[in-house]
Amino acid sequence: MEKRVLIPRREIQSKVKELAGRISSDYAGKEPILIGILNGVVFFFAELVMSLSIPSRIDFIRASSYGSGKASSGTINLVKDVEIPVKGQDLIVVEDIVDTGLTLNNLVGNLRSREPASVKICALIDKIERREKEVKIDYCGFKVQEGFLVGYGLDYAERYRYLPDICVIE
Ligand code: IMP
Ligand code: MG
Repeated sequence: MEKRVLIPRREIQSKVKELAGRISSDYAGKEPILIGILNGVVFFFAELVMSLSIPSRIDFIRASSYGSGKASSGTINLVKDVEIPVKGQDLIVVEDIVDTGLTLNNLVGNLRSREPASVKICALIDKIERREKEVKIDYCGFKVQEGFLVGYGLDYAERYRYLPDICVIE
C-alpha cells in the first residue's frame, strides 16, 4: 500500500498550538473537561491539552463503529464511557477526524442528555465528502475533501498509527 505525506508533523504542531490558543482564550477563567475519543485521538489530544494555558481535566470515551474497514457501519457502540460526572461542566469533545459525522453526532447527543453546562467540538481533521450528519466543529484543524488518512494516531485496520505525519493511502 502506497502512503503519501499529506500534512507533515511540523504543520500539525503549529496547527495544534493555534487551536490550543483559541481554546485557552475562549475558556479563560474556566476549567473545561476535554473528552478524547479513543483511540485515534491520542497524539493530538496529548499535544493539545499540554499546549493549553488554562487548567483542564481530561477524560476519554470510546465508540466502535468502524470494524477494520474504511467505511462507517453506522451503528455506534459506547465501549468506554467518561468517568468524571459531566453534569454542569464545560465539555470539549476532541476527535481526530470527522467523516460521516455519525460518531460525533451520536456521542454529543449522548453527552448533552447528561446536562453539561456547554459542549463544544474540536477536531483535527474535517473530511467533508461523506458527511451524513451535520456536525458543528467549533475548533477545526484541517479541512480535507476526501481520501483515507493514516498516521498521527489515525489507523487503517489498526496499522500506521505511529507515523508522525498524516499520510493519505493511495
Ligand atoms: P464518522 O462516524 O464516519 O464521522 O467516523 C469517524 C471515525 O472514523 C473517526 O473517529 C476515525 O476513527 C474513523 N475515520 C474516518 N475517516 C478516517 C480516515 O481517513 N482514516 C482513519 N480513520 C478514519
Ligand atoms: Mg476516532
